[in-house]
Formats: sequence, C-alpha cells, structure tokens
Amino acid sequence: THIITSPCIGTKDQACTEVCPVECIYDAGEMYLIHPDECIDCGACVPACPVSAIFPEEDVPAGEESFIPRNYEFFGA
Ligand code: SF4
Ligand code: F3S
Repeated sequence: THIITSPCIGTKDQACTEVCPVECIYDAGEMYLIHPDECIDCGACVPACPVSAIFPEEDVPAGEESFIPRNYEFFGA
C-alpha cells in the first residue's frame, strides 16, 4: 500500500483523491488516509501531492513511521 504522512495535516490538498483510479483515499479528519486493502500501488498519487506527503509503505521517511499504523488502523485493517 501507499501511506500518507504528516505534510497532509493542515494541507489536505485533495489532488491525490482526483488521480487515484480506485478512489481509496478517504477524508480522515485532519488529514487524508489510504485504505490499505483497496490501494493497488499504482503510484499515481505520489507526484500529485503538492507537499510530497505520500510514499510507498517501504519508503516512508524516518520520523514518519507512525503514519503507517495510522493508515491501517483507521480502516480497521
Ligand atoms: Fe490510489 Fe494508486 Fe495512490 Fe494507491 S498508489 S492510493 S491506488 S493513486
Ligand atoms: Fe493530503 Fe497531499 Fe492528498 S496534502 S489530501 S496527501 S494531495
């Protein structure tokens, strides 16, 4: 799956939701989060985000790891 990280908080640009072919990016309050069971890892959302908040799970930067469980747990996954 892909993971949305801290730069989304306070930004919520939503460009990612417009390019995602499976519409698996959901409003989670202060930020958007990606449903891990629905994401097909196409990568389209990564360059679409103006604040570079989205990463493949395996490439989440140091210090942003807490967003991995946050993306999973929001959907009960
Ligand atoms: Fe949607 Fe593709 Fe981004 Fe997954 S990687 S959230 S399927 S645009
Ligand atoms: Fe957030 Fe970037 Fe999408 S700011 S809503 S991850 S385009």
